[in-house]
Amino acid sequence: MFTNKRIVITGGTGAFGRKFTEMALSHYPGVKEIVIFSRDTGKQRAMAEAFGKSPLRFVSGDIASFPDVAKAAREADVIVHTAAVRLVSEAEEDPWKAVQTNIIGARNVIDAAVGNGCPRIIALSTDMASLANNAYGASKMLAEKLFVGAGKSHPELKTAVIRYGNMFGSQGTVIPFFVKKAREEGVLPVTDPRMTRFMATLEECVRIAWEVARKSLGGEIFAPRLKSYNILTVARAVAPRAEVRIAGLRPGEKLYEEMITRYDSYHTLETDAFYIIVPPYADAELYKRHHSARQVEPGFEFNSENCTERFSEEEIRRLIGTC
Ligand SMILES: NC(=O)c1ccc[n+]([C@@H]2O[C@H](COP(=O)([O-])OP(=O)(O)OC[C@H]3O[C@@H](n4cnc5c(N)ncnc54)[C@H](OP(=O)(O)O)[C@@H]3O)[C@@H](O)[C@H]2O)c1
Repeated sequence: MFTNKRIVITGGTGAFGRKFTEMALSHYPGVKEIVIFSRDTGKQRAMAEAFGKSPLRFVSGDIASFPDVAKAAREADVIVHTAAVRLVSEAEEDPWKAVQTNIIGARNVIDAAVGNGCPRIIALSTDMASLANNAYGASKMLAEKLFVGAGKSHPELKTAVIRYGNMFGSQGTVIPFFVKKAREEGVLPVTDPRMTRFMATLEECVRIAWEVARKSLGGEIFAPRLKSYNILTVARAVAPRAEVRIAGLRPGEKLYEEMITRYDSYHTLETDAFYIIVPPYADAELYKRHHSARQVEPGFEFNSENCTERFSEEEIRRLIGTC
């Protein structure tokens, strides 16, 4: 799929970008070039050292600057767009930064792809974009709208959005936080004992992106059928003897994560691996045939609460053992 192709990864020094690079280099040794676009040249240098002699090129710039993005996207065959303000707290504190990075950034990626004749964008999004209740989710929701809409205004450009839950192994997620708290204080602050979250490893997330790159017809939002966990299961898996203290929901936080809402259901297809929201301007029958998919029932919802596949304590312990 990536043989003789130039892949541009915005946010390439991030957790997902690095894993994508590592896996692409090992599975597609014939890749022409992987362009890593991000701001911090220190992180880029560290990545260059870690990857040694490989077809990587680093471009430093801000996703909010069109000239920077256009420079990185030159002769791209596919843009994997991951750069984001992605912490809820960061976006709540500075919503304008979320607008510039997540919304203007998305617009710049689309314009740079069109300007450079790049035929494909894979854009990373989040469950928080559906029924957004915080600045991060709202900015990602608008970014999703831009990517889906680009498929209509630029039919030669195939865009696909992927909604992920927590990426195990990325920064700011609950497991490393709990591990640290248990070690240092012996107390785990749990926001609400009913809280559930979706989770997948970084490797699984990259494989999902590859499957989407192979299958997307253009303009879809893909919600992978991920497994979820309850926060108390994680607490018990990390430190069974630690005290659990109920801290209450933080601003912008949800009790559970919503991948597909009842409002999405009218335009949503399902396969064994994904729920797929068909772009509003498209022929749904065509997408159904292409993906060998079924229409979900009206009013259907997929969230971390009604998701039947749950992580057990043992599975979480095994995951912790891998890092
Ligand atoms: N991690 C998760 O649990 C999770 C869950 C759901 C969805 N997602 C989505 O997946 C994507 C990747 O997440 P991640 O965990 O890999 O993120 P990450 O580790 O925080 O990495 C973010 C990357 O974006 C770059 N970046 C941030 N602001 C930028 C800007 N203004 N201009 C250019 N580059 C910028 C960062 O580098 P510099 O700071 O050096 O610029 C870094 O390379 C994001 O879009 C996120 O919304 C992640």
